Amino acid sequence: AYVVTENCIRCKYTDCVAVCPVDCFYAGENMLVIHPDECIDCGVCEPECPAGAIMPDSDPRAANWAALNAEYAAQWPNITEKIDPPADADAWNGKDGKRDLLSS
Ligand code: SF4
Ligand code: F3S
Repeated sequence: AYVVTENCIRCKYTDCVAVCPVDCFYAGENMLVIHPDECIDCGVCEPECPAGAIMPDSDPRAANWAALNAEYAAQWPNITEKIDPPADADAWNGKDGKRDLLSS
């Protein structure tokens, strides 16, 4: 499956949602995750994310994030349409240490 990783936090651009053919994104307060059992590995969301936060679970940078995606996809509501990102999304793009800022 594809996985949403750290740089989504506080960016939450949601461009990914608009292209997913199976609507397998789930939304927390400041990040989205992908449901691993619903993702069909089409890969179309990966280049759409302005934050570069989406990658296959085989990517070493996705380590630790696959479990988090699975956990929160089971708890958060499904999101199927793009929404406006946070007003300060661009300021957070690429910042280090966002893992601790995740709001569940
Ligand atoms: Fe959806 Fe395809 Fe991205 Fe999986 S890889 S989340 S199916 S767009
Ligand atoms: Fe997050 Fe990128 Fe989607 S920032 S909401 S994974 S477009």
